[in-house]
Amino acid sequence: MFMNFASHLVSGIQPGILIAVGLLAAVPGNAAEPVAQPLPSTVSLLEADPLAGFRQRKIQDGRWTVEVVALFDQPFHQAVRARTLRRPARPYEIQLNFRTRAAVQAGDALLVSFYARTVEAPAETGEAMTAVVFERAGEPYTKWLDAPISVGRDWKQFHLPFRAGETRSAGEAQLNFQLGFDPQVIEIGGIQAMNYGSRVKVSDLPATRFGYRGQEADAPWRGAAAARIEQWRKGDLTIHLTDATGQPVSNASVAVRMKRHAFGFGSAVVAGMIARDESEHGRRYRDTILKLYNKVVFENDLKWPQWENQANRRTTLQAARWLNDHGIAVRGHCLVWPAWRYLPRDVERLRGDSEALRLRINRHVTEEAGTLRGMLAEWDVLNEPYTNHALMDILGPHAMVEWFKLARQADPTARLFINDYAILSAGGKDKAHQDHYERTIQFLLDQGAPLEGIGMQGHFGHDLTPPDKLIQILDRFAALGQAIQVTEHDINIHDEQLQADYTRDFLTALFSHPSVTGILTWGFWEGRHWRPNGAYFRRDWSVKPAGQAWMDLVLKQWWTNADGRTGPTGEFKLRAFAGDYEITLLHGGKSRAAQVTLPRGGKRVAVQWD
Ligand code: XIL
Repeated sequence: MFMNFASHLVSGIQPGILIAVGLLAAVPGNAAEPVAQPLPSTVSLLEADPLAGFRQRKIQDGRWTVEVVALFDQPFHQAVRARTLRRPARPYEIQLNFRTRAAVQAGDALLVSFYARTVEAPAETGEAMTAVVFERAGEPYTKWLDAPISVGRDWKQFHLPFRAGETRSAGEAQLNFQLGFDPQVIEIGGIQAMNYGSRVKVSDLPATRFGYRGQEADAPWRGAAAARIEQWRKGDLTIHLTDATGQPVSNASVAVRMKRHAFGFGSAVVAGMIARDESEHGRRYRDTILKLYNKVVFENDLKWPQWENQANRRTTLQAARWLNDHGIAVRGHCLVWPAWRYLPRDVERLRGDSEALRLRINRHVTEEAGTLRGMLAEWDVLNEPYTNHALMDILGPHAMVEWFKLARQADPTARLFINDYAILSAGGKDKAHQDHYERTIQFLLDQGAPLEGIGMQGHFGHDLTPPDKLIQILDRFAALGQAIQVTEHDINIHDEQLQADYTRDFLTALFSHPSVTGILTWGFWEGRHWRPNGAYFRRDWSVKPAGQAWMDLVLKQWWTNADGRTGPTGEFKLRAFAGDYEITLLHGGKSRAAQVTLPRGGKRVAVQWD
């Protein structure tokens, strides 16, 4: 388990320097992972047994609980298990706190090291969060280290090097693990904070660089993915030009311009930004949609409570019309999200009257899907059934079948999806979630629910699923015989280069799989994003490396434009990405244009010149 990480955990240290200053030593049984060894002058900033305080004091204040657990298979023998029960207003309201036991001088090189793993995490990434902070122990809590990280399900060691920003005597600085996030259970052990003094460079200390298997430029999955993209995403386009007598016309000039991809590339959007925002931000928001996407989904506007708000409904319908007018497909999200907190207030009051509850939901499905009939390409009929099942608990599983059938009656043209999280994300390791999803989909299909699409959200933290594992998961779900779509992708991490790398590789792996029909991110602008780190454009609209990676693939590498001439047989042949094209022919001083849709099976276009 431990070994798995060795291949993609890299140290920031140059081996030569390391050996010279003697900072590195191999962990037994895991030669690839460097670990800081104290120099003679290195000072530990924490007590010899930092967990002692947690063994004595039992925290149980309704918001979180902490206990110390014993471990037998790790290089450390005890860990803190912290359970966050309720998210406080600010992350630091729940935190493990360690005061320093020794002084630090401004400029000293410090290193915080620890092990952590996720035990439970209902958040969409399937990963628990901690923000690791080293700060002045008192107002104004000046921070020298502030590293929000999400942790995977296997134990992993983290090294966070940084420079002391101030001179503080013992007890005047502190290390905190902030835990005030959504309910989760995390374990943290092997905690160390070392002071290497002023003569060691921070850049010479070990640093955890997060990564994933298959990130390497020569990773084997890349060749296979490129071949599948060539096979499944392109078609042969042949243009055959003849004159009025049927004779081939050679040497005519041909310009092929791609207009729209057959594959769905999209994002979540906010209706108000489209329909009601006349500011410069609104203008750029709309321009970006037109430039980057052929499909969108409303982030919140079609959810049941928002839909029942009449003012918001008018804005949303106006935005949907604008999108339709601009040829952008719209997905509906979502008809039923079966937890009380996502439902209109009055629905919970019906929990004691199952018939009234059933009717209220069914009317809603029929009303919303019916009102939007013809405007939407797809509907998420059911969202997150693994975690959110209050309605099924009362009405039974067959209610889900009913919702799909009613949606189909109300809107016969929208493709009907189920949607859930932690299928591709969470390192691809959330087996319980995956198994449940497969069973639920199979049940719905067996019961005759008109389900035609499998939505996988794709919210990522640091546990970035290796591309070859993504393909395995897709193969498994492809066997259910329905289209698969990534509906809510984002990567909520601070390392912009890693974010860009994984954006590129995630898109490539997904685009290469023949059952996948589209990829949508959950927002694109930092100014309107539920996880602002995940945005492609900063608040000032400058593009982040991940956004650049998206554009390089979607608008350049996977986009076909070509120019040429017809040959002696009157033909011009090209292998091009499936999609809509405008073809312009120029011959004898005259020009003609044709609109052509190229499917992945290929197309022959015969043009007679008269
Ligand atoms: C989120 C929105 O982004 C937030 O603005 C809102 O406050 C809560 O919902 N899975 C889903 C989405 O299916 O509907 C969620 O959207 C994100 C996780």
